[in-house]
Amino acid sequence: MTMSTINKALSSEAEISRRNFLKLGAGVLGGLALLELVGVGLMFLEPRSLEGEFGGVVNAGPVDSFPNGSITEFPAGRFFLIRAEDGGFLAIYRRCTHLGCSVSWKPEQNQFVCPCHGSHFDFYGDVENPPAPRALDTFAIHIEDGMVKVDTSRPQTREEFESSQFVYA
Ligand code: FES
Repeated sequence: MTMSTINKALSSEAEISRRNFLKLGAGVLGGLALLELVGVGLMFLEPRSLEGEFGGVVNAGPVDSFPNGSITEFPAGRFFLIRAEDGGFLAIYRRCTHLGCSVSWKPEQNQFVCPCHGSHFDFYGDVENPPAPRALDTFAIHIEDGMVKVDTSRPQTREEFESSQFVYA
């Protein structure tokens, strides 16, 4: 074997190993990109927790922080928490039962008022002025370790207010 043949053989080997190295590098980079794509995809597939906001369970706070005869609005949960004079709790969905506009509490009138077609509701969500066909919906309340928790995942419909709807600590 001549010197020139040896040099050619060596340079051809170097060329092959360089190609292999580049292929390996491209493979590793491709693998990393794929892993990242899968990771991002999984992030979007993971169910988003609705805890603390509308659609989930809202921890309204300690029982004692709501005086008897009070109404407290929870805009993120889309409800009003009523505490009656006898200490009973009622969570009222702010969605008007006519066509779904948001009602607001008017303390000077002692009423919930719908801005769309003039329905009015009393302190307990009962209709005082149509066209709303029935009382405002409610949400289930659980009292756990002295905290008031409101489950906003499913509104409960009702024709009118009844004292059995109150939840006590
Ligand atoms: S949506 Fe409330 S009165 Fe029509």
